[in-house]
Amino acid sequence: PITALNHTLDNEPQQITAPLTHSAAFLVLTVKDDAASLAKVREVLASTDDLIKNTAIREIERTFTCNVAIGHRVWAPLVGSTPPRELKPFQEVKGATHTAVSTPGDLLYHIRARTMDLIVAFERNLMMAFGDAVDAVDDVAGFRYFDGRDLLDFVDGTANPEGLSLPEATIVGDEDPDHAGGSYVVVQKYLHNLDAWRAQKTEAQEAIIGRTKHDNIELDDAPADAQKSHKTLCTIEDGDGEHEILRDNMPFANPGRGEYGTYFIGYTRRLWVIEKMLERMFIGNPAPLHDRILDFSTATTGVTFFAPSRKVLADLGD
Ligand code: HEM
Repeated sequence: PITALNHTLDNEPQQITAPLTHSAAFLVLTVKDDAASLAKVREVLASTDDLIKNTAIREIERTFTCNVAIGHRVWAPLVGSTPPRELKPFQEVKGATHTAVSTPGDLLYHIRARTMDLIVAFERNLMMAFGDAVDAVDDVAGFRYFDGRDLLDFVDGTANPEGLSLPEATIVGDEDPDHAGGSYVVVQKYLHNLDAWRAQKTEAQEAIIGRTKHDNIELDDAPADAQKSHKTLCTIEDGDGEHEILRDNMPFANPGRGEYGTYFIGYTRRLWVIEKMLERMFIGNPAPLHDRILDFSTATTGVTFFAPSRKVLADLGD
């Protein structure tokens, strides 16, 4: 029993499967390449559990969670081990009309809580701990928009896996034993053209998404060679059945600058599943019938990370 327990603790994931909250932040950092900066970053990553505790305890409802993920460029210098099997830099996907761009990012902090105060307090502690060892390349504050809708006004997150399907879809297992308990993470920051979107009829919007707007009911798939909806393009099936991912998208906005967006974040046990979704969205299925959501949404970032098990992070302090 003791070895079984140790095995479990060894592979204990971060808080990948924690539920959505009213607020979230997506902080993307690059790490400076000198030895002192790498050592500092290793030290801060190793203290992740303590940093989280310092903030989480301040809220009685305990909604605060934080996941840290590491990009391919810094995996070897920071962690030292062979990288997770599928980990690589985000591959640009260039369709006839739209491109999924690839942008810099070595560390991702995905921070969730009911209220922004905890998130800001945590981020400040974190940035103080890092000192000048990192540069922040992006920091997006997401908020819950009405009944879990994105800024296109559709309920977002419905088809996410639940129960036992959730860890099955998101947490690496025996297929990559050194990295069991980890999860691949892909982020993309999308900016919407809301004026153009709102000029569309509701029925046209529903056909693009693949669900009804008011009641959030799934529409039938289009015939094989016709224009497919977003939900159909993002349904990946093969001989093993349907391959799901976990999405914790959040709306973000800066009305003064006319910015309205969706921060896409997908967790997966199999990176190729998200890559396949992006290919179907941007190149089209069949090409060139791309996801029409992209005619109203521009991807301005794209970065791939791996959120290792808690022990991998803690061991960086050794
Ligand atoms: C489904 C919005 C980007 C993967 C959906 C749904 C909405 C939505 C409203 C239907 C409800 C639901 O099941 O959640 C958006 C918006 C995006 C975006 C506004 C950015 C502009 C992406 C990207 C991916 C993705 C980049 C993957 C690479 C999925 C998946 C589903 C889905 C897997 C569920 C499909 C199913 O029914 O099984 N999305 N999405 N989405 N989306 Fe997205």
